Amino acid sequence: MPTVSEIMETMDYGPSVEDSGAVRDWLKDRERFGHFIDGSFTAAGRGFVTTDPATGDTLAQISQGTAEDIAAAVKAARKAQPKWAGLSGQERAQYLYAIARTIQKRERFLSVLESLDNGKPIRESRDADIPLVVRHFYHHAGWAALMAEEFPDHSAIGVAGQIIPWNFPLLMLAWKIAPAIAAGNTVVLKPAEYTPLTALAFAEICQEIGLPRGVVNIVTGDGETGAALVEADVDKIAFTGSTEVGRAIRAATAGTGKRLTLELGGKSPFIVMDDADLDAAVEGVVDSIWFNQGQVCCAGSRILVAEAVAERFETRLARRLERLRVGPPLDKSTDVGAIVHPLQKDRIVNLCRQAVTAGADLVGGQPGETCYVAPGYLREVSPANPAWSEEIFGPIATLTTFRTADEAISLANNTRYGLAAMIFSESATVATDLAAQVKSGVVWINGANMFDAAAPFGGMRESGFGREGGRVGMLDYMSAPTIKDIKEKTPKPPKALPDGKAAVAGINRTEKLYIGGAQKRPDGGASYRAASGDLVPLGNRKDIRNAVEAAKKAGKSAAMGGHGRAQVLYFIAENLSLRREELAAKHGGEAVDRAVSRLFYYAAWADKFDGLNVQTKPDYLVNVIPQPFGVIGVVCPNDAPLLGFVSLVAPAIAMGNSVVAIPAQDDPVAAFDLAQIFDTSDLPGGVVNIVSGPKDDLAAVLAAHDDVAALWFCGSKGAEAVERASTGNLKPVWSFPNLDWSADAAQGRRFLDHAVQWKTVWLPYGA
Ligand code: NAI
Repeated sequence: MPTVSEIMETMDYGPSVEDSGAVRDWLKDRERFGHFIDGSFTAAGRGFVTTDPATGDTLAQISQGTAEDIAAAVKAARKAQPKWAGLSGQERAQYLYAIARTIQKRERFLSVLESLDNGKPIRESRDADIPLVVRHFYHHAGWAALMAEEFPDHSAIGVAGQIIPWNFPLLMLAWKIAPAIAAGNTVVLKPAEYTPLTALAFAEICQEIGLPRGVVNIVTGDGETGAALVEADVDKIAFTGSTEVGRAIRAATAGTGKRLTLELGGKSPFIVMDDADLDAAVEGVVDSIWFNQGQVCCAGSRILVAEAVAERFETRLARRLERLRVGPPLDKSTDVGAIVHPLQKDRIVNLCRQAVTAGADLVGGQPGETCYVAPGYLREVSPANPAWSEEIFGPIATLTTFRTADEAISLANNTRYGLAAMIFSESATVATDLAAQVKSGVVWINGANMFDAAAPFGGMRESGFGREGGRVGMLDYMSAPTIKDIKEKTPKPPKALPDGKAAVAGINRTEKLYIGGAQKRPDGGASYRAASGDLVPLGNRKDIRNAVEAAKKAGKSAAMGGHGRAQVLYFIAENLSLRREELAAKHGGEAVDRAVSRLFYYAAWADKFDGLNVQTKPDYLVNVIPQPFGVIGVVCPNDAPLLGFVSLVAPAIAMGNSVVAIPAQDDPVAAFDLAQIFDTSDLPGGVVNIVSGPKDDLAAVLAAHDDVAALWFCGSKGAEAVERASTGNLKPVWSFPNLDWSADAAQGRRFLDHAVQWKTVWLPYGA
């Protein structure tokens, strides 16, 4: 027993263990869980156990969902959906509100259950996870109530299949279920096999509040159950988890028409500039990589610190590390609990070993009993070390130094991921400059891991696409007004003409590709006779690659600002209308007139498609900023050569993207005519590039290209090939049938929505 003066000396905490009696009674009463389908629990089937990772003790028996279970759940969801969507927004809101209230009343119970099943410290489940769950349901109760007013003409998608990971089990459930049901969808959710218990407790809450049967269905199981859900008759898949599984899901849903959002891994930079408040930065590391045992997709797992302050920063970091308390999850003074599962622990330990073999020093980070791994960090990690690029998903950061801000940004962006970034600097100029340059969906300035239901969260690059939270997140669970689909004639495969056959009588116009603001002969030197009768260049994969290079170099168009881009679009419209008669003769008067008005429309939007300042917590300035993707591949409709091209290219460039367009295969001349107009309208070279040729072959090259950040694919034939080819860099693919391009609804905000990715930047107030 230490004396009082010894306690005063060490300031050690005594144990303060949260009572788990109520949770253990609840588990004892149930013991074996079935699935929650159509408002009731099925009898428990064959399955597996879920354990307490801190002790290895069994908590409960869980059923392994089969394809039949999934089918039954989807059937129940499908049956319930029209009635649920038919309720007024206010009525749906009341159910979400009741869920929020009930969870709030059970906060303690759910926190203990979460900590037992996952191993996270009770301090975190009680103070972070569960309050955020409650907030999410309240916030989305609001969106349900406001849906008709705020999203007129939008409707629910239908049935959403949702697959979630084990790091924030109930919070990820809330992020998925709340927006889905607020918008009038019904859901089938599969929790992670390591942590199904809070989802099952949530199912009981749905029963208790009288949520209509079938609106929420929960089927437990492992990856096989998840794969069965992906294959099932659902209208959307929303997935959070590893990039590897995200890729498999992208491939499995290719061509099915299922909507998809992916929230995947990260290797997020944590930048400490030389003017940073170093104590705050050290606390940032604690909140970032040592929070939740580092099992956080947006953890600041790569610490990048300015060389000038590196030594001072590291001294403080090491001192703070020593004071972190690793211990039982239910002890209220534990900072770092247990890793979720022995397999995950082994993975962390192995990755650290590999990093050390590759030359890094490991500070702390030693494995303990059962699932414990002490927090730590790896020093001297260069981009060649596997620890630089591999997601460790444990309480181990890497630490690397840099000299200049440019070097910091280049290191920060030296990753295939793009989920989050943390920037510590006392200078607003420096911090906001870095925030603008870093490629990530979320940026926290002078802080880490701040979340709120109103602040969209999600990634760029291989961290996935789609957003969760706020207005933007709601759009991922709704369908926009439909426009009449016009069946596209499938173009015949173009044939290269033999040399010499190309000449025709009279002065013959020789069409060329349009790349980098100049006319270019196609790489293969070949032409084909388009269905329009014109002789046009036959582009190939090399031409696409050259066009992407040119588009990348033109990235500066984003820097022109909305006003500058609007001027260019107005100028294109003006010059197009000057050539109206000539082009109307070739492409039809209505097409030209509508193209002119569409250019005006997107010119108008160029400086008005605003971001948002969202209401999260007091003391934070949270901006949600629309950012261009960079290079968008645009595969244009075959049947509306001029108007289809303008309807897609104009919104893409209005938002600051550059474009590689594959024009109508049967009549690409309309696009080349427009290229001449671009040349005289101040459009910077490379912002629009046009490669004609076999549409599907060229589209597949665009889809597979790593520097093409998003793809728009138009055609009635389906998008299976491009969606499959897009798995490389996991670009979002917006595929849609050939629309009636003369319809008024063939222009609008939704084209702009698809032309941007949202970046959420958090900036705390306060000195
Ligand atoms: P995982 O991606 O395999 O699991 C996530 C969810 O997907 C689970 O519910 C799982 O049952 C399900 N799933 C697995 N295979 C599936 C398939 N083929 N089709 C449909 N659903 C499937 O992640 P895992 O294996 O648990 O963790 C491995 C690594 O993934 C971690 O070390 C970490 O690097 C990363 N990860 C990232 C997360 C994030 O939030 N971004 C969350 C969890 C893991």
